[in-house]
Amino acid sequence: MSNSARVVLVLGGAGTVGSGIVKALLDRGSRVVVVSRDSNRLENLKSFVTPSSKGNLITLEGNVGSEEDVERVKQATVAAAGKLTDVVSSLGFSWWQGGLPHTQTLKELQSVVDTRLLSTFVSWKAFFPLIMDNPGSTYTFITGGASDRLLKPGTGFLTVGAACALAFCQIVRDEYPDVACKFNQVVINTGVAPPDRMAPGFLSHLDMGEAVAALVERQSPSHKVVTVQFPADLKAIQEGNI
Ligand SMILES: NC(=O)c1ccc[n+]([C@@H]2O[C@H](COP(=O)([O-])OP(=O)(O)OC[C@H]3O[C@@H](n4cnc5c(N)ncnc54)[C@H](OP(=O)(O)O)[C@@H]3O)[C@@H](O)[C@H]2O)c1
Repeated sequence: MSNSARVVLVLGGAGTVGSGIVKALLDRGSRVVVVSRDSNRLENLKSFVTPSSKGNLITLEGNVGSEEDVERVKQATVAAAGKLTDVVSSLGFSWWQGGLPHTQTLKELQSVVDTRLLSTFVSWKAFFPLIMDNPGSTYTFITGGASDRLLKPGTGFLTVGAACALAFCQIVRDEYPDVACKFNQVVINTGVAPPDRMAPGFLSHLDMGEAVAALVERQSPSHKVVTVQFPADLKAIQEGNI
């Protein structure tokens, strides 16, 4: 499938990782739909992408973690963009360091699980059926790698959230081994930031976006899990050496 024939929904596309992916997909000629709960973030995204590609960007306000709202968003997506070919799910938050577990509330844990797992599930349940039977389609999950260890003191709930997301990605791969649409999972084992917020060891969200766009474009014949930590990992994805 040519990139100009692709219509990619990027959930979380106004966020740090998602915005790099949106820019790269647009630069490669795809049409891209982005949903956010925040109209300001959508406006910022419009000013961030390459100006000549802006005509291919469709932005919608909505909450894809709500079963009611996601149905409205789904209808609006199809009405505005036509038939979807791919989905990238980059929902979540960059970091959580609220402190020791015994100092936390149930509400805080619920909000972490809500953001990392429940919105991923609710949106997947709404959008996957639109592409599941289409050869050449992909559903890509962007996740963190904090699932099996404490990254730093006070980040325990980040580990819980990451573990939930990882387990969900694993079960959909295992439950749908032969589905036409292929799952990609990108496990990011380091920080990702825009060029003006880089820290030592971080990856640029622009480079991350290029790698994820290449993964979507490549139409793997099977479900795929790729782990990224270093610039060389991103280069390998772009060159197809994974
Ligand atoms: N940034 C990093 O350093 C880093 C490192 C490793 C892994 N990751 C992974 O990358 C993924 C994205 O992280 P990020 O850093 O890009 O986070 P982010 O900047 O907070 O972006 C997350 C996006 O998710 C969206 N979102 C969350 N719940 C939603 C809902 N119910 N409905 C609609 N949109 C919703 C938010 O949209 P709104 O505009 O509506 O708020 C936001 O734009 C996560 O899975 C994370 O584990 C990130």
